[in-house]
Amino acid sequence: MADKEITSLTIRRPDDWHLHLRDGAMLRAVLPETTRHFARAIIMPNLVPPVVTAAQASAYRDRIMAALPAGANFTPLMTLYLTEATDPEDVRRAHADGIATAVKLYPAGATTNSASGVRDFEKVRAVLDMMAEIGMPLCVHGEVTDHSIDIFDREAAFIDKVMKPLRKKVPDLKIVMEHVTTQDAVDYVRDSIKNLAATITTHHLIINRNHILAGGIKPHYYCLPVAKREAHRVALVQAAVSGDKRFFLGTDSAPHTDPLKLQACGCAGIFTAPNTMSCLAEVFEAAGKLKKLEDFAALNGPKFYGLPPNEDMITLVKGDPVTYPAQIATDDGPVTVFDPGFDLHWRVAG
Ligand code: NCD
Ligand code: ZN
Repeated sequence: MADKEITSLTIRRPDDWHLHLRDGAMLRAVLPETTRHFARAIIMPNLVPPVVTAAQASAYRDRIMAALPAGANFTPLMTLYLTEATDPEDVRRAHADGIATAVKLYPAGATTNSASGVRDFEKVRAVLDMMAEIGMPLCVHGEVTDHSIDIFDREAAFIDKVMKPLRKKVPDLKIVMEHVTTQDAVDYVRDSIKNLAATITTHHLIINRNHILAGGIKPHYYCLPVAKREAHRVALVQAAVSGDKRFFLGTDSAPHTDPLKLQACGCAGIFTAPNTMSCLAEVFEAAGKLKKLEDFAALNGPKFYGLPPNEDMITLVKGDPVTYPAQIATDDGPVTVFDPGFDLHWRVAG
């Protein structure tokens, strides 16, 4: 059957391999938007202060569990924020005790709340060697922070300056290049034989840099890494719909209140949790690859992380345009929901 004729699609329940849940009032408001459709998520540690130690990750996980909506069946997979002072033994214990699933590497200054990130990779070498030994993945924000490098080139530069040397030094380390935005990153991951995968966000499958900059500046489309030109978006779609096991969904849903987005120096981050599955179905349908949505959203991620796929299923149904709120209210202020710029016809049933 041609994809245009398919009106119902049943897939394993999806997971989100890169998610910002924040804390406090924001956590309580945004968590249900993810738990409605997703069974697990890799939780980003860039709180203020960041989640660095096993004890902090355990306490943060408790706060997430306490904020779960009634009846939700959701497992937060915690990450530790890698700093130059991270103790390899603390990481080892966190992994052994099931407190932390992965470690997150932010180059210092790369993005929102990344000031404590890594400047000198030799200083974290002992942690990386230990992670390679125990099979604990490293999630990498792949952008150089050098101000002399053009912001649109920072991901490609990161591959040459950081990824290649790092993978030579620690070849057994499992690495997820997160939220890739370029053909360069897609090619780099495709060329790898093992221990390398990439997440792709919902919004980078839909927007290019014109969405941010043409016809007036649109802060709600601003995130990091910043969306690139159209040819890169097309390369991301091809990777996502290919079924290639090295590419899987990490929404990077990153809520900020409207006052923080809409100011002279607005925050980076796009809030896609409420309508991600509808957006993805639309993208996969347009590519004629609806059947590959399950690989991307529910199978490839667990496989890379060495976890079983979820047992239960969800059904996406196609019909009249779906309605979703333009904003969700939080006690911190309103958060605008990602607008893909086209009607969404797919909804998650039940
Ligand atoms: C993220 C955030 O707001 O925490 N922002 C973003 O634009 N993606 C940080 C990040 O993942 O880079
Ligand atoms: Zn992120």
